Amino acid sequence: MVKDRRTTNSMDTNAAAQKAAEATRMSQKMCLFKAEMGNAEFERFSRLIHSEFGIKMPPSKKVLLQSRFQKRLRALGLSSYEEYCEYVFSPEGQERERQHLVDVVTTNTTHFFREPKHYGILNDMVLPAIWKRHGTSKEILLWSAGCSSGEEPYTLSMVFSEFAERNQGFRFSILATDISRQILQKAMSAVYALEKADEIPQDLKKKYVLKSKNPEKRLIKMDRAIRNRVRFSQLNFMENFRLQTPQDIIFCRNVVIYFDRGTQEVLFRKFCDNLNPGGYLFIGHSESLSGMTLPLRQLAPTVFQRT
Ligand SMILES: C[S@@+](CC[C@H](N)C(=O)[O-])C[C@H]1O[C@@H](n2cnc3c(N)ncnc32)[C@H](O)[C@@H]1O
Repeated sequence: MVKDRRTTNSMDTNAAAQKAAEATRMSQKMCLFKAEMGNAEFERFSRLIHSEFGIKMPPSKKVLLQSRFQKRLRALGLSSYEEYCEYVFSPEGQERERQHLVDVVTTNTTHFFREPKHYGILNDMVLPAIWKRHGTSKEILLWSAGCSSGEEPYTLSMVFSEFAERNQGFRFSILATDISRQILQKAMSAVYALEKADEIPQDLKKKYVLKSKNPEKRLIKMDRAIRNRVRFSQLNFMENFRLQTPQDIIFCRNVVIYFDRGTQEVLFRKFCDNLNPGGYLFIGHSESLSGMTLPLRQLAPTVFQRT
């Protein structure tokens, strides 16, 4: 009995020692990520993110940036933000880490039929006007600029497909761009969580959304006809870009909200350069063009037409 108890005791002691060692390792690991980012590193990151991606990063975002960087530190086996900063600015980091940085600092929140008033304006005003102006003579070009995981261009694809069904000969094609390669991969897969289907009106869901055959997967996929109308491409708005063909409609919603006013104006000017006269620009409901001198006239609070 005594021997047994001793054995049990020594097993208990060993287990306790192992637990304590594990706890120390864990707390060291935690400390590693609890360490604060120095102001100097934050300022370097902030300047880089603003100049390369347009995204403003004021000091109030430091904690957010810190927490978003943790995954990268872990993936790279680095133990401090200082080391990560050195890496990001090194020649190797400039080549290999910039895309990860984009994925980490961008906000990709989006929904199907987000800001639904815009789709009402498209159906009631914009599409009939375009159809009247061009009829079957021209393919209508749409651009979802800052498309995130694809819900916006696929919503446009559904709305335009419906219009085309009611108006024989109406042709359209959608370009969808984003700065983040990772989010574009998701967009191109066109696969979403089952709950996302709730954002789509019942009749369109029936027509254009495929449910996974395996109910345990709880996934949906956009129908091929809807996917085939959308072409995805990577584009950073901070570059000097010119699209091959000017567009008829540009949707750029909930993107410039992260940019400062000067950067916003430069970007909207680039959009105007890539929009046909009479073409339409849709911006997010919390965004505005007030005070900017642009060749646009306002049709509704967040809908504009190229003059
Ligand atoms: C919040 S999402 C908006 C998605 C969609 N337009 C909507 O309204 O639901 C913003 C998107 O803008 C992209 N973005 C941010 N900075 C960008 C830049 N400099 N160039 C191109 N896209 C950018 C992000 O990657 C992100 O996917």
